[in-house]
Amino acid sequence: MPLSAVPTPASPAATPATGPGPVLSVVIPTLNEAGNVAELVSRIERALSGVAWEVIFVDDNSPDGTAAVAKRLSLSDRRVRCIRRVERRGLAGACIEGILSSAAPYVAVMDADLQHDEAILPKMLAHLEQGDTDLVVGTRYVEGGSAAAFDARRGALSRIATRAAQRFLGTSLSDPMSGFFMLRREVVEAMAGELSSEGFKILLDIVTTAGGRLRIAEEPFVFRSRFSGESKFDSRVGIEFLGLLLGKMTFGVVNPRFLLFGLVGAAGLGVHLIVLKASLLYASAFFPTAQSLATVTAMGNNFLLNNFLTYRDRRLKGLAMLKGFAGFCLIGAAGAVTNVGIASYFYDERPVWWLAGMTGALMGLLWNYTMSSRFVWHTR
Ligand code: GDD
Ligand code: MN
Repeated sequence: MPLSAVPTPASPAATPATGPGPVLSVVIPTLNEAGNVAELVSRIERALSGVAWEVIFVDDNSPDGTAAVAKRLSLSDRRVRCIRRVERRGLAGACIEGILSSAAPYVAVMDADLQHDEAILPKMLAHLEQGDTDLVVGTRYVEGGSAAAFDARRGALSRIATRAAQRFLGTSLSDPMSGFFMLRREVVEAMAGELSSEGFKILLDIVTTAGGRLRIAEEPFVFRSRFSGESKFDSRVGIEFLGLLLGKMTFGVVNPRFLLFGLVGAAGLGVHLIVLKASLLYASAFFPTAQSLATVTAMGNNFLLNNFLTYRDRRLKGLAMLKGFAGFCLIGAAGAVTNVGIASYFYDERPVWWLAGMTGALMGLLWNYTMSSRFVWHTR
């Protein structure tokens, strides 16, 4: 049966085609929040009486059926929408997708678990409607706000992350890690392609990407305890944030690729020593021969591991792989010269063998990494 032949069920209250859309979309990322959805919607309804609002749940296929619960609400309330994403994960990406699905001039982002106080939504909206503000951040760290609901460990982590972000990322926000904010939708539309879809740091990402161009206001709120379900914050989120900080502090040199490159290098050293020992022991090879064999094996090992892990997104195949290996060896040889040169210079200045040795090795690693990225795997 062709689709057009499917009879449309007669609806008792057909929705009118015309009429103004919402002024405010409240985007709510969800992962296993089924027990919070209904309570949250009813609280938002109470808080936003007199405002044309909608809520957009963006659910990452939660096993607890959050999306189904939200869609059941949609059937009796057109202001409730739900985007169900499959095979995708991530708080930031969910927020961006929700924001981009909106047509309203103003968009808020808030957590589903009722930790964010919906009562300040009207105040946030008032800031934006006055026309002199692009972004309003719900903050726990000014007079009138509080993060006392955090346990001691999360509270300490949050304070450290806040300080670190203020110091190293140059933001003056009092609560840069806040997940509660409202902005003019255009702000995100304009930079959507540049935002990272991973991790929890969406607000920070928006503010740093805008690079000081946003007019920002803050609105204090008291962070509450979770209503139902469990937090999704885990060590991965923390490590990711550390990675972001390290990256900014080293002007982008320290990043996941660089760390993998370093690990592969360390594995290569292991391979080198094993091959050296084995050829001396079992093949009773002449030392220079054994050392050369070990070097070539380690280079091959490093090239292959980097090709399959570090640069898996730009993996070389066939002839390009051979050419790549030749380039990798050349860069490595030059890297060794750099390494020895710098280490010797350091040793002359300050004869501490391990300090000079490590400095040389680190410089060699940096050289190999930047040159290989550029000329072997052609990043950027
Ligand atoms: N769609 C989607 N996908 N939603 C997610 C994901 C994901 O991978 N991970 C978490 N969420 C949703 C949760 O369901 C919740 O609605 C919201 O994002 C926040 O997650 P929580 O698990 O409640 O985080 P939290 O309370 O520990 O962390 C809060 O404080 C942090 C800073 O202290 C949040 O407000 C964070 O945004 C904030 O960075
Ligand atoms: Mn929470």
